[in-house]
Amino acid sequence: MLINKLISNMLPYMPKNLVWVFSKEYIAGESIADAIEAARQLNSEGIMATIDVLGEFIKNLDEAEANKQEYLRLIDKVEEADVDSNYSLKPTSFGLLIDKEVAFNHIREIVAKAASYDNFVRIDMEDSPCTDLEIELFRKIKEEFPKNVGLVLQAYLKRTNQDIRDMKDIHSDEVPLNFRLCKGIYVEPEAIAYKKYNDINTHYLEDLELMFQEKMYPAIATHDKNLVEGAYKLIEKYGATKDQYEFQMLYGVTPALRKSILDNGHRMRVYIPFGKDWFGYSTRRLKENPNMAGAIIKAIFFK
Ligand code: FDA
Repeated sequence: MLINKLISNMLPYMPKNLVWVFSKEYIAGESIADAIEAARQLNSEGIMATIDVLGEFIKNLDEAEANKQEYLRLIDKVEEADVDSNYSLKPTSFGLLIDKEVAFNHIREIVAKAASYDNFVRIDMEDSPCTDLEIELFRKIKEEFPKNVGLVLQAYLKRTNQDIRDMKDIHSDEVPLNFRLCKGIYVEPEAIAYKKYNDINTHYLEDLELMFQEKMYPAIATHDKNLVEGAYKLIEKYGATKDQYEFQMLYGVTPALRKSILDNGHRMRVYIPFGKDWFGYSTRRLKENPNMAGAIIKAIFFK
């Protein structure tokens, strides 16, 4: 809708406190304490968490160092607070597109820290210029920390099914590949990405089926009830037990569907973003997905 597009374009120029009215439903806050509090609340509802420090596509390597330090602090605080959470990160916020060796070393240090607590780090998947780099990064880190790292794959990319097959060489029954499967959030060219809802969903379920066939560990990340239904069928078809997969959702999104998945006896993990960069993050996400602007209109005018 035109109005949605208009609002999403205006967002970066709107007062921060107005955008916060909408964003606070989807972001835990600015501090580590806010993220831990959100995780604790979700834990009390039987939901696991994965915490992400907001920040991506940085401009210099000082920012990469600062982001690493924030993750190292986060990990110590989360483990101290004893909440059930792992960690998610975006490699561009450690300088992936500036100096890949620097980014690799920062992320390695973060995974080593999480591994020292027997915890886990998920490498988010960013836009297509990052795909090969992020797979390479994942392979390298998994070699050293086989149980402590996972990757995100995007069903809208035409290459994804082959990527899953190509990574079978680092998969084993003892330490299965751990993939979060999502639709994909970036705007990608038609040459490399499915664009239609039905095409994306068909490939999502094909990719998920391949993961179950190969006994990989899928994190089924979606708020789309059709995909949730499709996933239920695959779980039954492959007789997957509760500890062989999990569902995942974003903080604040579709809580009713989330509850119904839990009530059906499946495990659920919620992605909790927090940090000082929440304004940039919200406006970027909203520009990418103007349909979400409808929710802003509601939040601003009907609260
Ligand atoms: P779809 O877009 O069809 O949404 C289904 C319904 O859910 C919508 O009708 C709407 O009601 C609701 N909804 C979905 N997203 C919403 C939102 N943000 N706010 C409000 N309502 C919303 N992408 C990526 O490229 N790289 C990544 O690393 C990740 N990581 C990631 C982690 C987790 C835990 C999740 C759940 C998602 C991601 N994503 C991601 C985002 C993902 O690619 C995708 O863009 C969104 O999940 C939306 O796709 P759905 O499958 O929910 O379906």
